[in-house]
Amino acid sequence: MKSGWQSAVVAMGVSMSMLLTCPAAAQKQPYVPPEYEREGGPYVPTPNVVVDRMLGMANVGANDHVIDLGSGDGIIVITAAYRLKSSGYGVDIDEELVRLSNQRAKSLGINERVLFEAKDIFKADVSKATVVTLYLLPEFMQRLRSKLYAELKPGTRIVSHDYHFEEWMHDDEVTFDVPEKEFISGVPSATLYLWIVPAKIGGAWRLQVDGNGEYDLALQQRYQRLMGSAEGRGGKVSLLEPKLSGAEVSFLLPLGVHQRRFTGRVSGDRIEGTADFGGGKIVRWHATRSKS
Ligand SMILES: C[S@@+](CC[C@H](N)C(=O)[O-])C[C@H]1O[C@@H](n2cnc3c(N)ncnc32)[C@H](O)[C@@H]1O
Repeated sequence: MKSGWQSAVVAMGVSMSMLLTCPAAAQKQPYVPPEYEREGGPYVPTPNVVVDRMLGMANVGANDHVIDLGSGDGIIVITAAYRLKSSGYGVDIDEELVRLSNQRAKSLGINERVLFEAKDIFKADVSKATVVTLYLLPEFMQRLRSKLYAELKPGTRIVSHDYHFEEWMHDDEVTFDVPEKEFISGVPSATLYLWIVPAKIGGAWRLQVDGNGEYDLALQQRYQRLMGSAEGRGGKVSLLEPKLSGAEVSFLLPLGVHQRRFTGRVSGDRIEGTADFGGGKIVRWHATRSKS
């Protein structure tokens, strides 16, 4: 039995026969039937079951603003807004698909929270996104990588159907059966990739630990991967187990015979947090970017 949402969508013309999609084989060019070819790349909708998994993987809720780049018939943004009460924005190069998406949003009564525009994905303003969804050809993914890394807020979740960013390693990945993909791709499954956009914290910082000294922090960052060292009166030590997820940072700082766990949150050129000094002693710390 179909849910109200599925019935509404099917009634508006998204039938199972339209649920064609790209093959799951990661980074391979998909076979696309000629009727789905468009000037800017193929229009192939993500099946409903995959849309649900994408939104679940990104943990979309009412406070989210979901942006789908290459939004097709709008299924991802519309599902998020209708079922999960998020707001959303979609851009597609195909004006007819954009018109259809806005019409669909209006007929579902969600057009005040959702907008679709005919625009090139590379010119889209993504700064308001808390979630970005993608189902794009590999070469588009590689070209989008630097735009999304530069323009998205720390903590923004990106979920991509079947294709990844190569050198920007994903934070999570899941593959599951999608039988309806088989007749077009020969692969009855989908793979989803998740990235959490990291804060930009590479560089020199001055770390001050309340009542427990000051250090020069040197951080090296490659996307969400972090390395670093701290130099204080006792000399220079490497940070252990450095982690960066969105704006959340943590590391172990070797101090004498102890390793102290530092956790903090990045906000622009400042990081604030607490350090566990053992025996229930929690101290506050902050770091500010060193002037170069
Ligand atoms: C595979 S479909 C995905 C549709 C939708 N995101 C989904 O998952 O159901 C890719 C879409 O990207 C659009 N597209 C391709 N190149 C584009 C570009 N440069 N700017 C905007 N949209 C583009 C196509 O028109 C097509 O609708």
